Amino acid sequence: MPERTIVLPVARDGTPTAAIARAAALLRAGGLVAFPTETVYGLGADATAPAAVEGIFHAKQRPHSDPLIVHVAERDALPSVVRDIPDVAWELARRFWPGPLTLVLPRADRIPALVAAGGETLGVRVPDHAVARALIRAAGVPVAAPSANRFTRTSPTMAAHVLADLDGRIDCVLDAGPCAVGVESTVLDLTMNPPRILRPGGVTLEALRAIISDVRGPVETTEATANSMAVARAPGQMERHYAPRTRLIVFDGEGGKALNAIRREAVAALARGERVGALLPDEEAGALAGLAVTVAALGSSADLGAISRRLYAALRELDERRLDLILAHTFGREGLGLALWDRLRRAAGGELRAP
Ligand code: TXA
Ligand code: MG
Repeated sequence: MPERTIVLPVARDGTPTAAIARAAALLRAGGLVAFPTETVYGLGADATAPAAVEGIFHAKQRPHSDPLIVHVAERDALPSVVRDIPDVAWELARRFWPGPLTLVLPRADRIPALVAAGGETLGVRVPDHAVARALIRAAGVPVAAPSANRFTRTSPTMAAHVLADLDGRIDCVLDAGPCAVGVESTVLDLTMNPPRILRPGGVTLEALRAIISDVRGPVETTEATANSMAVARAPGQMERHYAPRTRLIVFDGEGGKALNAIRREAVAALARGERVGALLPDEEAGALAGLAVTVAALGSSADLGAISRRLYAALRELDERRLDLILAHTFGREGLGLALWDRLRRAAGGELRAP
């Protein structure tokens, strides 16, 4: 375990290159380097070095049953980490890479099974961030990287979040400011026919349909299907994930009805003497005025991209306020709404309430 974590500021364009070179040298030496991607900060290690990859599981306290995504710097590197690549994978790569789409394909022998939780498949993507790609190129190896948070905690969208969870447990953080997408990549399993989304994320179901008309969405998530899925197809997709420490109640719905449910729940909790917070879009942020509720504004509900960017930071902000209860609601299931729905549900322990 490193004694301290070095923080190296870099611009979004990857300058100064000396910082990138230093981080790349750490990766090549088997170290752990957190770096920005367009989705969230990743915790990187040389994907071809089992001891380095083992360090990721240790630092995050992540179970070995949860597979890691491998990051490469360009599309053409795809055959260096996976095999039996179908035409549709190339088509998706041309359309969405660099970008927030992870393709699950048969793992190449060069990548140790440990990376893939012992499985025969591997998730791979090209991140849309100049710093991430410059780092991977300079390291000269594919980089295994989960989100740079402690296991089950909220993913980091700023270097400060990484340090809050992992300071002293990793070698270095490249700090290039906040992430542009804010929710993780969409994980698409191309080893199934038709392909299935294992985790909704930055590339929407609707966008994927333009290329794979019969692509299947994430399995409807009753506790039972989620648990059997976790074993069978989507290891790591457990229900309590992306979670704050504070109790979180999420109402499934938007508009007046969900807001009324939040107000009702807040009034009841305040009457019990509890400290209450709420995650609300800008338009609704004033609706609890007059109640002693700490509100974190998420951005306009007309811009789900803005809400995605803010979600994890806002959750962390409220989590630090020593509240007893956080209240929120979902934003439909269209476009990025599906990823927000998934993350809010998991953050609430797998349960959504009817408003
Ligand atoms: O946006 C992202 O994907 C970020 C950035 C850093 O790239 N990474 C990320 O990694 O979110 P992580 O480890 O926090 O989540 C990866 C999830 C796993 O928990 C698992 O659910 C799924 O992706 N996954 C990865 N490889 C898989 C595989 N071979 N088969 C099935 N699911 C896989
Ligand atoms: Mg994660």
